[in-house]
Amino acid sequence: MRLAAPAKINLFLEILGKRDDGYHDLRTVLVPLSLADEITIERREGEGIETVMQMDEIPAVVGVEMAGTEDNLATRAARLLQEETGCRAGARILIRKRIPVGGGLGGGSSDAAAVLCGLNRLWETGLSRDRLLELGARLGSDVPALLYGGAVVAEGRGERVRPAVRPEEAARSRWWGLVVHPGFGISTADIYRRYRPPLTNGSAFYHTLLIALATGDVHRAGRSLFNGLEETVFAKYPFLRLVVEGLRDEGALGAMVSGSGSSVFALAADEAHARRLQQRLAERVEADCWSRLVQTMPDGVMAAHDPLEVRV
Ligand code: C5P
Repeated sequence: MRLAAPAKINLFLEILGKRDDGYHDLRTVLVPLSLADEITIERREGEGIETVMQMDEIPAVVGVEMAGTEDNLATRAARLLQEETGCRAGARILIRKRIPVGGGLGGGSSDAAAVLCGLNRLWETGLSRDRLLELGARLGSDVPALLYGGAVVAEGRGERVRPAVRPEEAARSRWWGLVVHPGFGISTADIYRRYRPPLTNGSAFYHTLLIALATGDVHRAGRSLFNGLEETVFAKYPFLRLVVEGLRDEGALGAMVSGSGSSVFALAADEAHARRLQQRLAERVEADCWSRLVQTMPDGVMAAHDPLEVRV
C-alpha cells in the first residue's frame, strides 16, 4: 500500500490560553500541501513493526534529533493501533521523506496519520474515523487535523477538528505558494514555553481567512494570515523575520512562519509568481535556504479520504 502523507501549513494560529495539563488551547486553520512524504506499508507475519526512513531528499537540519525507529511517531502509531485493537499482525513501513523535519510542516504527524489510516485498512482493524482521530490526538496535537484531511479548523489542543469550508467550496482554494526551510529546526515545546501573547488579536483575521477559503480568494487569504507564535519565534530567530519580510517586499500576497517554525511560507497568485518569489529570495538572502513550490490541497488528498491510496 502506498500513501501520500502531506505537509501542512497553518494559515491562522491563535493561542487562547494555557491549560492545566501544560498544553495550550488554540484555534488554528491548517491546510495540507502538495509536498508529501511517500509511505509504503507491507503487512508482515508476527507483531513486529519495522520502520525505515529514507532521508536523502530532504535538507540536513541543525538542532533536530531524529527519533530512532522505536520511538518514531509512525512506529508509535502502528503500536497504538495494535494495542487498541488487539491486532496480532505486523508491518514494514518505508518512509521516503520529502518534508523537512523539525520545521513546523507537520511531516512526522502526517506520517503517523497516514500509518494509522493505512494500517487500519491493511490489518482490517475496522476503527471508525472518530476512533482514529482519538488515537491520533494521543500521538500529537497536529495528527487529528492531518488525519481529517483538507482545510480544517482545529481547536482545543488541536484534537477538535472540523472542515474549514463547505464541501462544495473546498476545491476553490487550491493556491500556489512557496515553502522555505532555513536549515535549522525549532523545538515546538520551547516556543510554547517562551510564548507571550501578541498585541494583535487574531479574530478578525480568522473570519476573513475563512471567507477567503470559501471563495478561493488568495489575495484576501494573503492579507488574513495570522500566527500568534510568530513574534516569539522572531525574538529567538531574527533571521526568520528577514525571510518573511523579504518575501513580502518581493511581492508575496502574504508570508508567515508556519506553526512554531522554522519553516516560512508565502502565498502567490499563480505558479509563475511563486517561482519568481523563489528566485528573488535566493538572490536576497545570503544563506542557502531550501525551498519548494507547493500547492495547497484544500479538498483533502489525505489518507483519511477515499480513495485511501494516493499515487505520489
Ligand atoms: O502535541 P505535540 O507533541 O505536537 O506538542 C509538542 C509540544 O508543544 C508540547 O509538548 C507542548 O509543550 C507544546 N504544545 C502546547 N499546546 C498545544 C500543542 C503543543 O503547549 N496545543
